[in-house]
Amino acid sequence: MASSDPHSLSGQTALVTGGSSGIGRAACLELARAGADVAVNYHGSQDAAEEAAAAIRALGRRAIAVQGDVGSEGDVAAMFDEAENALGPLDIVVSNAGLQRDAKFAEMTLDDWDTVIRTNLTGGFLVAREAVRRFRKKGRRPETSRALGKLIFDSSVHQRIPWAFHVNYAASKGGLKILMESIAQEVAVEGIRVNAVAPGAIATDINKLEREKAGGLEAMLQLIPHGRVGDPEDVGRVIAFLASDASDYIVGQTLFVDGGMALYPGFRGNG
Ligand code: BGC
Repeated sequence: MASSDPHSLSGQTALVTGGSSGIGRAACLELARAGADVAVNYHGSQDAAEEAAAAIRALGRRAIAVQGDVGSEGDVAAMFDEAENALGPLDIVVSNAGLQRDAKFAEMTLDDWDTVIRTNLTGGFLVAREAVRRFRKKGRRPETSRALGKLIFDSSVHQRIPWAFHVNYAASKGGLKILMESIAQEVAVEGIRVNAVAPGAIATDINKLEREKAGGLEAMLQLIPHGRVGDPEDVGRVIAFLASDASDYIVGQTLFVDGGMALYPGFRGNG
C-alpha cells in the first residue's frame, strides 16, 4: 500500500530537467520536501545544480546533479542512466527545461526557431519517451504509489495565450499541450499519469529583464488579476501535487498556475 498520506512522495525517486534554477529548482525542493530523492538535471550551470542538490540533501533526501542537453537523444538516455544508477528506478519525471529566444516575427531567424523548438518541444518528447520506457521497466511499486509513473510537463500560459514577438516559444508550448494530452491518452491504461502545469509570470531569470526594465513590472501586473508575480514555489508545490497520489484521478490535464493571467483580464470592465 502507498503511504497513508496521499501527498507523501516518501520512498520515490524523481528526475527534474532544468532543475538548477527557477521553477525547476523549486520543483526539486518541493518534491524533496514531500519525501522524494531527486536527480537535478542541468545543461550548463553545474555550480547551481550542485547547490540545488546540496539544498535537497539538507532536507534529508538523496540528490545528484546530472548534466545533459534535453534536445540530445544520447544525453537524455545518459542522464536517466546516471539518475537511476545513483538513486534507483524513477517514479517521477518532470520535463521542465525550457528557454526563450525572442524576436519580431519577420526578423526571427531559423536558428531562433530551431533553438526553442529543440529544447522546449523536442526535449519534451525525448524526456517523455525515456520516462515511459523506464517506468515500464521498473514496474509497479504499490508500496510507494498507485501509479506506475508520473510525468509532469512544465508548459506555459502561452500554450493557450498567443504571444506576439515570441511565436517560437508560444508554438513550442502549444505543441507541448497536445503532446502531453496525446501521451496521456496512450499510456494512462498502464497506470502512467501524464499532466502539465502552465505557469504565468513567475519571478525567474527567464523574464528578469522584462520585470526589471522601466515600467515592466507594472505592465506585467496589469495582466495578473491576483496582483502579484508568482514565486517559483507556487508552481513547485503544484508539480509536487501532480506527482503524488493526492492527484491520482487527474489525467492529461494542465493546471494553470498564473494568478488568473489566462482569464483575459483586459476584458475586466471592457468589451
Ligand atoms: C514566459 C515568461 C512570461 C510568462 C507570462 C512564461 O511562459 O517564459 O517570460 O513572463 O510566460 O507571459
